[in-house]
Amino acid sequence: MEVLVSSTPDEAASRAAEVVLEGLAGADGDPVLGLATGSSPLGLYRELGRAVQEGRADFSRTHGVALDEYVGLPPGHPEGYRQVLLREVCDVVGLDPERLAVPDGTVPDLAALQRAAAAYEQRIRELGGVDVQVLGIGANGHLGFNEPGSALTSRTRVKRLSQRTRQDNARFFTGLDDVPTHCLTQGLGTILAARRLVLVATGEAKTEAVASALEGALTASVPASVLQWHPDTVVCLDEAAAAGLRNRAYYDDAAAGLPER
Ligand code: GLP
Repeated sequence: MEVLVSSTPDEAASRAAEVVLEGLAGADGDPVLGLATGSSPLGLYRELGRAVQEGRADFSRTHGVALDEYVGLPPGHPEGYRQVLLREVCDVVGLDPERLAVPDGTVPDLAALQRAAAAYEQRIRELGGVDVQVLGIGANGHLGFNEPGSALTSRTRVKRLSQRTRQDNARFFTGLDDVPTHCLTQGLGTILAARRLVLVATGEAKTEAVASALEGALTASVPASVLQWHPDTVVCLDEAAAAGLRNRAYYDDAAAGLPER
């Protein structure tokens, strides 16, 4: 695990963008980029857009794969994650909307949702797996919408949202009652199958979750602790999000790089 601490959220975003581009450059065939929603990766997506404008990146052949989606919002709802990713990623980096895969949370009943979850896993397999998965972290340590208690080996499935997550996300809706109660989310096992994980977290609201995820026990109670299990995880933080880390001095030393040969 590499932990890169930057002095500002903007700097964390720009380092995260470089890490993402490096990971995609190593892709075999058309690259596959896993996409998180939320405020944390917005700066990263802007930086990727800037790289495109400067001719350092091109997403025209990249496939985008969403991390999760709400259940029960009507198709085209502006807060549905398909629409969010169209606005915040496709429009910004030039990813083809036809190449954006999002689990279908609009289907009518549980059996149809379970089929949508299985179809989503199948789609990821057809694409050859995810090369780089972008992640944020919930204040309760969730990853995607894998709430505390999620199986560490779980695959895409229907999950109930925690009250905490619904409250955190109520700002995007007219009120708490309008926030969906369920979602479809890639499982922790699905996330772990990506070839590189890039987590972005900034601000003091994430200090505790980051410390538990990176330095606490590997446990379903802190879903983001699965980052410790992955062989290629890069965590991009600002000072505030890194403030609870005990091992900080070592991360800074390690980030200075390998010796010249
Ligand atoms: C939502 C998303 C997560 C995201 C989390 C944190 O719950 N499903 O993927 O990581 O929000 O959001 P933010 O980055 O806005 O704090």
